Amino acid sequence: MEERKKTSVCFVCLGNICRSPTAEGVFRTLAAARGLDRDIDIDSAGTAAYHEGESADRRSRSFARKRGYDLTSVARQFQVEDFARFDYVLAMDRENLRDLRVLKKMTPEPEAGHLGLFRQFDASAPAEPAVPDPYYGGDRGFEEVLDQCERACEGLLDHLVKHELS
Ligand code: 4NP
Repeated sequence: MEERKKTSVCFVCLGNICRSPTAEGVFRTLAAARGLDRDIDIDSAGTAAYHEGESADRRSRSFARKRGYDLTSVARQFQVEDFARFDYVLAMDRENLRDLRVLKKMTPEPEAGHLGLFRQFDASAPAEPAVPDPYYGGDRGFEEVLDQCERACEGLLDHLVKHELS
């Protein structure tokens, strides 16, 4: 049987305990629902190391669970070597993107791979769209992160099917 092409995606936020674990968990579930989970390597990381080794934030896990998503990530800091490991590195906001761009300049092939904002894959999102940090806010912020992640993950899957997995 012909082997299907694989692709790899890493979602990146600041702490790797709220937004990027949510994107990772939603994406795993939606990819599996389309039968694509074995075709995509999925991970998440933070630009900062504050929460290294921690599970996703309790509030993120609880709101995700109510929609059927299991957040299983263990926080880690994004490393410069991750640019060679992942085809798509997707930032949650402009600060994350700026930090990643600085790091990417240190790689042997700074033009290789895709680095951009995660929500660019949501056609209904505003221009230069961020997933806002819910950490210091109320419950509504966590629900909004989930809404945004669901829309952008569907768009990202459409994109990968069209451009990478055919
Ligand atoms: P995240 O949220 O980047 O979505 O994981 C944050 C989590 C922790 C902190 C900031 C943002 N913090 O400052 O500890």
